[in-house]
Amino acid sequence: MPKIAYLESVRSHNRISADTPQTLDPATAESLYVRYDMDELKRTAKRENPAKYAAESAASLGMWRYKDVLPSVTPVTLGEGWTPMVRSKRYPGLFIKEEGNNPTGSFKARGLAMAVTMAKHYGLQHLAVPSAGNAAGALAAYAAAAGITAHLYMPQDVPFANYLEGIIYGADVHMVDGLISDCARMVGEEIKAQKAANLPPEQVWFDISTLKEPFRVEGKKTMGYELVEQLGWTYPDAVFYPTGGGVGLIGMWKAFDEMEELGWVEKGSKRPKMYALQAAGCAPIVTAYDKHEPVSQFFQNAATFAAGLRVPKPYGDAIILDILALSGGQAIASTDEEILASILDYAKNEGLFLSPEGAAATAAYDRLIASGELKTTDKVVLFNTGAGLKYTDMTAEAMKLRRPGTLPTSLPVGGIITPV
Ligand SMILES: Cc1ncc(COP(=O)(O)O)c(C=O)c1O
Repeated sequence: MPKIAYLESVRSHNRISADTPQTLDPATAESLYVRYDMDELKRTAKRENPAKYAAESAASLGMWRYKDVLPSVTPVTLGEGWTPMVRSKRYPGLFIKEEGNNPTGSFKARGLAMAVTMAKHYGLQHLAVPSAGNAAGALAAYAAAAGITAHLYMPQDVPFANYLEGIIYGADVHMVDGLISDCARMVGEEIKAQKAANLPPEQVWFDISTLKEPFRVEGKKTMGYELVEQLGWTYPDAVFYPTGGGVGLIGMWKAFDEMEELGWVEKGSKRPKMYALQAAGCAPIVTAYDKHEPVSQFFQNAATFAAGLRVPKPYGDAIILDILALSGGQAIASTDEEILASILDYAKNEGLFLSPEGAAATAAYDRLIASGELKTTDKVVLFNTGAGLKYTDMTAEAMKLRRPGTLPTSLPVGGIITPV
């Protein structure tokens, strides 16, 4: 695993040392990327190293299979990454990257594994996150594994599973009457107050909001390495990514940059078109894309049961829009009705229980197939970013489904949980 050479701001390319924990570029408030000495990496990083992989199987390594291109620290791991790429039964070119197989049931595990790994390395004791739900659950799990305290702020109407995860893993859970943007403000205010009160540095929370620290992108970039490896070190024609804050999309693009520089994909290979899929009830990126604007506007009255897509103003909006333009991709929104129809369709016809976010991607894919804009033979990697089973309450509600009948009274459930 390589040493970090420096952190670099996305646009101004200012260099900042990674010796101490960093959030944003202090001069410009831009997001920071992790940079390595690429000449050294060219000598040391190996795309294929059969001896190594024989000793440590791919499955047990998970995303740390790419440790040659990740920071050289001891991982805090729960087995994240190396998720299956499931071939569609109906569309010969469609591969569904099943990220619901990750610990805590979503792709957020990758970014939070890396961010908590680095937090432990730096000796941080308190991590705080505003979250649409799954990032909170993932932080709670990895913080528990690392012996760090997690402070979670999420909208009170997130899937119940996200609340439960926070409680189960022993985090400090704050359910907020508002959106992720309100959660972010509250985390910022709390940290400001802690600093103003001159709390000892080890007691001040560290904010690991989306794109406000460099390591969640670094963890999520492994999705880019992984999909390319699983396709025999070749690019697909397109990548479909349900986009809230956009960390995965940005991380994958960074991975493509690195792989090309390292010669891990053939020189001159055409990069995939990147598609950002959103819900019509919260579609700031789609709105900006349609209007050819370089940044998004705050999306008013955000509402969708695709909880992870309820990000009214992504911090990395300009980076996301740049990537869409550079790759020739698109941003497409689907209504909650279309998302629900797609969940039912893929469950019945493919055997996959998609998250609503994943179904925002399949709904858009199906529309592009129907319009002829995409062919069924086009090679598309579509991310099901979370397990459908995390959303039983939200999806059942969207279906207006109630449990039939009453629970049998003979089961001693109440007696076990709450003895009388
Ligand atoms: C299941 C799921 N999919 C997609 C997203 C959006 O992810 P990103 O913020 O990386 O765009 C989220 C965010 O919470 C999520 O939980």
